[in-house]
Amino acid sequence: MQKMKLKCITCGKEYSAKEIRYNCDCGDLLEVIIDFSLFNRTSEEWKQYFDNRKDKFAFLRYKDFLLPDLPEDKIITLGEGDTPLYQANEKVQDYFGVKDLWFKHEGMSPPTLSFKDRGMVAGVSWANYLGIKKVACASTGDTSAAMSAYAANSKTIEAIVLLPEGKISFEQLAQAISYNATTIGLKTDFDGCMKLVKDLTAKHKIYLLNSMNSIRIEGQKAIGIEVVQKLKWDVPDWFIIPVGNAGNISALGKGLRELFDLGIITKIPRIAGVETEAAPPLYKSFINNWAELKPIKAKKTIASAIQIGNPVSFKKAVRELKYFNGVMEQVSETELMDAKTIVDASGISVCPNSGTALAGLKKLVKKGTIKPNEKVVVIITAHGAKFSKSIQEYHENKENKFANQPKIINANLNSIEKIIGEKK
Ligand code: F0G
Repeated sequence: MQKMKLKCITCGKEYSAKEIRYNCDCGDLLEVIIDFSLFNRTSEEWKQYFDNRKDKFAFLRYKDFLLPDLPEDKIITLGEGDTPLYQANEKVQDYFGVKDLWFKHEGMSPPTLSFKDRGMVAGVSWANYLGIKKVACASTGDTSAAMSAYAANSKTIEAIVLLPEGKISFEQLAQAISYNATTIGLKTDFDGCMKLVKDLTAKHKIYLLNSMNSIRIEGQKAIGIEVVQKLKWDVPDWFIIPVGNAGNISALGKGLRELFDLGIITKIPRIAGVETEAAPPLYKSFINNWAELKPIKAKKTIASAIQIGNPVSFKKAVRELKYFNGVMEQVSETELMDAKTIVDASGISVCPNSGTALAGLKKLVKKGTIKPNEKVVVIITAHGAKFSKSIQEYHENKENKFANQPKIINANLNSIEKIIGEKK
């Protein structure tokens, strides 16, 4: 008995989950609908079921909630997920103005150091189930890294990645190359790559694994459920998340909504999405009372993974933001790098894209939208180590608030002792 189907978010037309399609005949996005009633579990039984499966890796633990129709023997896993939920130290709490502050660090996902592993364990496993031989994506660097790794691990699936040439970090590019993907740099931006990968996958037997693939996005619901399970099924007041193509915020919302509908959680949190001033299409819609998407030309930003002006999952994201009484915020380059750096300095290395979410938190606390006593979980989407150039450039510039410059000195003990204050 099939438990999953695809359904149009606008006209409601339904399709088999095994059909390879990304849009409805009417042109709009599809989403996965799971008939949870077929499990016949009460909310308590669901919780117990997940709690009893703590020894299983995340995707398998939550498979009934993510992709119930996927046969277990088709799963291609690299040990993703089960990422830490860190509590901010006092200095960090003070900087952001909230005490009960947590970081769900998806950059600690072992395979490729970003939340994209969650999507790719789902997407590439599903491709494996369907017997697909080629997968493709457009990417600002993390999707391509994760897709390439999982495809490589499948041994039977070839990865093709379209990247905006010169606009992703060296480490991200190195990931795709080292996992042996066919890596194509295009003289355009992410939105240009996205358009071409859609044309490519429409024309050929190649499976599209961007976030408009609604099967892939189901895997990312694991982030939200992992947070609330760790908090013993308690729910924070706020989730803060950086937004690019708007897939992850849509997945977070969908997952939390389903948990609420199943009675597994009994409170609806609020969600804040954050973009940079260089690429703020959702923020612009928000301040105009959730006006229709006006695609923009994204400007250069140090948060290069979210340099996106025409987010594919815009409609899904707006739907979730409305449901969760959500807000959007935008932040400057200085704000996001300062926020990133203060968290780095607490021993938790985060990427500039996550710095965007962090800076958004600070702004929303200042505005009074988020109260100092509320419980806040920030989704850290990638590890700082994937963006070393941004770290180097920040610390090289003395003007920056938290710059920590290396001290270059002559090689003798005396000079070292002077610097560390041990010179008697
Ligand atoms: N943070 C990081 C580190 C990302 O790589 C991305 C997206 C986002 C946030 C935003 O997530 O697109 O679901 O809203 N990166 C995509 C990529 C676009 O190609 O790797 P989103």
